[in-house]
Amino acid sequence: MNFELKPLSLVEAASEKCDVLLVLVTDGYKPAKDGFSAFVARAIKDGDALTKPGKLLALYKHAMAQATRVVLVGVGDGSAKSVRTGVMAAMASVKSDTLKKLVVAFASAATAPSVRAGLSAVADASYIFTTTKSKPEARALHDVLLAVSNAGEVQATFDRAVAVVAGVELAKEWANRPANYATPALLAKAAQGLATKHSKVSCEILGPKDVAKLGMGAFQAVAQGSDEALRFIVLRYDGAARSVAPTVLVGKGITFDSGGISLKPAPEMDEMKFDMCGAASVLGVFRSLAELQPAINVVGLIPACENLPGGGALKPGDVVTSMSGQTIEVLNTDAEGRLVLCDALTYAERFKPRAVLDIATLTGACVIALGAVRSGFFTNDTALSAAMAAASESSQDLCWPLPLDDDYAEGLKSNFADVANVAGRPAGAITAAKFLQRFTAKYPWGHLDIAGTAWKSGQAKGATGRPVGLLLDYLLAQGSAGSAK
Ligand code: BES
Ligand code: MN
Ligand code: ZN
Repeated sequence: MNFELKPLSLVEAASEKCDVLLVLVTDGYKPAKDGFSAFVARAIKDGDALTKPGKLLALYKHAMAQATRVVLVGVGDGSAKSVRTGVMAAMASVKSDTLKKLVVAFASAATAPSVRAGLSAVADASYIFTTTKSKPEARALHDVLLAVSNAGEVQATFDRAVAVVAGVELAKEWANRPANYATPALLAKAAQGLATKHSKVSCEILGPKDVAKLGMGAFQAVAQGSDEALRFIVLRYDGAARSVAPTVLVGKGITFDSGGISLKPAPEMDEMKFDMCGAASVLGVFRSLAELQPAINVVGLIPACENLPGGGALKPGDVVTSMSGQTIEVLNTDAEGRLVLCDALTYAERFKPRAVLDIATLTGACVIALGAVRSGFFTNDTALSAAMAAASESSQDLCWPLPLDDDYAEGLKSNFADVANVAGRPAGAITAAKFLQRFTAKYPWGHLDIAGTAWKSGQAKGATGRPVGLLLDYLLAQGSAGSAK
């Protein structure tokens, strides 16, 4: 899908040849002195609250427009949320395989949030997963033109939004693939593919022997119940000088989580193919970085394996030794995410990072706490906390702070090891974070629990591509935000 930004007035946008023209109308719209603008103003005046977000007025072969179909789309106050609501409604109303060229015209001056929200809504609404369909109906939409009167002001936002879409769609692709099409080895191949294609991205893949040599006993223990060999993926994006400390992103890459011997119940177990959404988001961020080429350094770490029961599987009560040297009593083999992450967090030390962020579909408890609206965010670092709050707002890929009081770690005490891998049911998202925190003493650290936000269940089942947008805004706001293109 190609996106283009053009400086066009509304009447100029109406003269673009296309299948569908969406005209985004805000409250208090002031028409220019041409016929089409006057028509839009009259439609608003006569219509029933037409500028309300999501209100639509559909027209066929309007005399003053070159588009086959024109839809006037209410976007209220023009905020990101209202624009998303409006564009999603409009896209649903025109959904068809004849929509190849789309023009989205902002009737009033566009703002950074509205451009970003409009673009991501068009991409989300037209996304189709095809990899495992025998007769795939591919996405028909090919060209998307954003027509805004003030193109210069929003060019940088537009570029970033296009890069985020590329990253989000890569994350969706890998997250949506079933576990037999997204094994640890295939994830590693995807990472290597990014390195081959983009000059500033490089990739190193470690296998079972390398991981054993490093002493990653916790990660190994999770993988040992499966015939599918583990992979430890190390991605680098080098946009700045070697002397610049990198930010490290660690993505949970459980390609299927059955729970292991602590087996999960059958209903919805298929959704545990999404247990590598953290890993997918790291791949997505690297795709976006390759597009934008900012002057920063980023490392991506992905511990990838399956969590299955089997003759060789990890058992409740087993004690494993992590790369940090800490021993862990595994009371529940379904709390496997923290076991693979803890070794990756120790591995991260070698990069002398400016900060480490892990991204994980870690706990059902986080879904109960925050639902599908905001990811849970944990940190003890005040700068990181502020930076992520800002990125949450600017990206509209929302997260919310949860606490890390030491009292929450009480339940992790073990009679047989340095720490247990689970505490009781209360505050499950926080006790998981407290477990991870034990492995992060050497750098500023943050943890995103994306269990509720990374995919949708039910009829709309599928990956969301979150939190690629959030992570990218966080990274781009760091230090030298300039471009090294
Ligand atoms: N991948 C799951 C978390 C999860 C569950 C995400 C449901 C989204 C929906 C994780 O590995 C897990 O199983 N966590 C357990 C931890 C418990 C055993 C302490 C959970 O949340 O039940
Ligand atoms: Mn689990
Ligand atoms: Zn899991």
